[in-house]
Amino acid sequence: MNKKHFRKQFLLLTLAGSVGAGTLVGCSGQQTAEEETEVTATTEQNQMDIKQEPFGKTKEGEETTLYTLTNEKGMQVQITDYGATITSVLTPDREGKMADVVLGFDSLAGYQSPEYLKSGPYFGAIVGRYGNRIAKGKFTIDGQEYKLATNNGVNHLHGGVKGFDKVVWEAEPMPGQNAVRFKYVSPDGEEGYPGTLTSTVTYTLTNDNEIKIDYEATTDKATPVNLTNHSYFNLAPGQAKDALGHVLTINADKYTVVDETLIPTGELRDVKGTVMDFNTPQAIGARVKQVEGGGYDHNYVLSETGDGLKKAATVYEPTSGRVMEVLTTEPGIQFYSGNFLDGTITGAGGNKYEKHYGFALETQHFPDSPNQPKFPSTILEPGETYKSTTVYKFSTRDQQ
Ligand code: BGC
Repeated sequence: MNKKHFRKQFLLLTLAGSVGAGTLVGCSGQQTAEEETEVTATTEQNQMDIKQEPFGKTKEGEETTLYTLTNEKGMQVQITDYGATITSVLTPDREGKMADVVLGFDSLAGYQSPEYLKSGPYFGAIVGRYGNRIAKGKFTIDGQEYKLATNNGVNHLHGGVKGFDKVVWEAEPMPGQNAVRFKYVSPDGEEGYPGTLTSTVTYTLTNDNEIKIDYEATTDKATPVNLTNHSYFNLAPGQAKDALGHVLTINADKYTVVDETLIPTGELRDVKGTVMDFNTPQAIGARVKQVEGGGYDHNYVLSETGDGLKKAATVYEPTSGRVMEVLTTEPGIQFYSGNFLDGTITGAGGNKYEKHYGFALETQHFPDSPNQPKFPSTILEPGETYKSTTVYKFSTRDQQ
C-alpha cells in the first residue's frame, strides 16, 4: 500500500468510526463514509465534518456536547463545551499508530466526580479569568481594591471556585476552518472580578497536525485576564506509565521565583547551572526529585520576545517517537510536572493517574501579575481586545 493510499484508507476508517449516534456538521452537508472516500484528500482546511454528540448533563441539569475535529492525516481532537475542555487528542506514533496523548475522560461524569473535584487538576480545560495564582485573592485597579474567591489556601487559583473550566460555553462549529469557537460571557463580579468579560476561544485542527488555540476577550471595566489551556500530556504508548521519560526543552533563561504558597516573589532568576535549566533537552525525571515542592511547578520567562508566535518548548517521547512543539504569543509558560496527581483518578483509558503521570505546559502571562508592577501587565481595559495564540504541533522522530 503506498503512502497516499494508506492515508485514504485511514481516512475511511476514521470517518466510518465517526458516523453513528452523533451529528455531523460539514460545509458539504452530510455524507456517508463511502461517499467521503471519493473526495480526494487536499491540503485545504475545508473538507472535514465536525461530529457532535451528547457528553452528559451537569449537576445543574445543563446538557453538554462533545465536538470531534479530524484532519486529513487522521489526527483527532475532542473538545467539550464544559469548560471548553480538550478531552482527547489522537496522534500517530513513529509507526503511524494512533493513541491518545492527553489525560481526560470520555464523559462529563469524570469531570464532575468527587475525586476529580477534590484534587482539582483542570485536565484540558480553559482556565480563567486568570490562569494561575493571585496572592491572597486581592488586587487594586485605579485605587480600588477587589477581593476574589480564595480556593487555594489563602490564594486565588485558576479563576476561583467556579472558574471558566466549570461553566458551559456556547459553541459554534466552523467546519470550513476545521474549528470550533467557544464563547463565554462572565458577568460583572463573578468570582469577585470587575466588569462583564466576553471571551472566545477557537480551537483549530490543521492538516499539519497542529492544534491552534486563539483567545480573545473584551470587557466593560478594567479587569485582569490571563487565559490558558490546562491540558496534561503523556505521549507514551497507551499512557502505560508516568511521563518522567519525556525529554523536554524550554526556551527560557529565567523563571519567576515563588514563595512556599507558589506566589512569585518578583525575582526573575537565571536557570543556568540549576535543575530548572531546560535550554538543552532533559528528561523530565532526571532532576525532578531535586526540585523543591515535589517537582516542577514554575513559570518560565520565555527568551524570545516580540510579536507573533515564538517557540516556547519541545517534548520528545523516545519510545513512541512522538514530538510536541509549543509555540505561543505569550511571554511565559507554566511547566507543571503533575506533582499533585496521586492515583485517585482513573482516566479514559483505564489508567490510574499517579504522580507525574502527565505534565502541563500552560502558555500565560506571569502568575500574580496584578500585584507585580514589574511583570508585563494583564489588565484589560474597556475598548481593548485581549488576544493570545498558542499552537501545539505534533510530529514524530525516527530514531530513539
Ligand atoms: C498550577 C499548580 C496546580 C495545577 C492544578 C497548575 O497550573 O501551577 O500549582 O496544582 O495547575 O491545579
